[in-house]
Amino acid sequence: MKKIVVFGSFFVDLAARAPKFPVPGETVHGSSFQIGSGGKGSNQAIAAHRAGADVTFITKVGADEFGRMAREVYSREGMDTRYILVDETASTGTALIVVEESGQNMIVITSGACGRISEADIAAVTPVLEQADLLLLQLEVNFDAVKRAAALAKQSGARVILNPAPARELPDSLLSLVDIITPNESEAALFTGIPVKGPEDAKKAAAVFFEKGMQGVVITLGKQGAYVADRGRGEYLPCIPMKAVDTTGAGDAFNGGFVMALAQGADIFEAARYGNVCGTLSVTKQGAAASAPYRQEILKLYEENYG
Ligand code: RIB
Repeated sequence: MKKIVVFGSFFVDLAARAPKFPVPGETVHGSSFQIGSGGKGSNQAIAAHRAGADVTFITKVGADEFGRMAREVYSREGMDTRYILVDETASTGTALIVVEESGQNMIVITSGACGRISEADIAAVTPVLEQADLLLLQLEVNFDAVKRAAALAKQSGARVILNPAPARELPDSLLSLVDIITPNESEAALFTGIPVKGPEDAKKAAAVFFEKGMQGVVITLGKQGAYVADRGRGEYLPCIPMKAVDTTGAGDAFNGGFVMALAQGADIFEAARYGNVCGTLSVTKQGAAASAPYRQEILKLYEENYG
């Protein structure tokens, strides 16, 4: 099995469920509250690990209670904690989440220590980045650190996968280092200028990413599934019907399952099916990292739908 490195955020998720999203100035009564482990990087690393991959996760936390919580989470999962860097002055990042009845969410993040990954931090983890066969990145840590990590892994021959979330403009200096990009509809729309409402739009958006040099594009389409393409062909992957309880972390579970399958030697189409299965199972449970499925349930749903 190939070695996956995930370089990204750990945040503590403070999540309330409510019958509806408040409008500006409004207060609504929520029905429940949970503190859980989140951050797109961490969620994706945990999802890939639970799916059976060999994963090393690199992040940065504060010297505070939430930072200690990160270490406990990875110890419990049986993951390496050596590359959980600590910032003595910044707080651990947080995400304030509201989940409404339909399972949809709204999120505000503060990156905290994850926004302050320095040159010295990168130097400390360079050997890990250089050993990666696959490097999975998102955009919740400071952007210079994302670019540096991509460059180091790429120089050492890794395949670089970018989940460009949360959405922002992507300079060619980063895109030239990326092999596979995995945006959702809004991220793909922001970058390409094409409103992505379904698979046909996704196909047009994918063409823009190919012009930028990508080898593979996976555009997740929420309830509609995903559009997957390499330079030779494209395929629409419908979603697997399932009642959504909480969609938080579904995209992360998709990315975790996707890289796990790439690491096992799957092509991008088969890997996206594993991603689809993981994303689907994730929406049936509450929480972000907490809802990432385990290998046995993944293999079962894969067999039922694609076997
Ligand atoms: O993708 C879901 C994640 O986004 C949450 O866990 C939250 O921490 C934010 O980073």
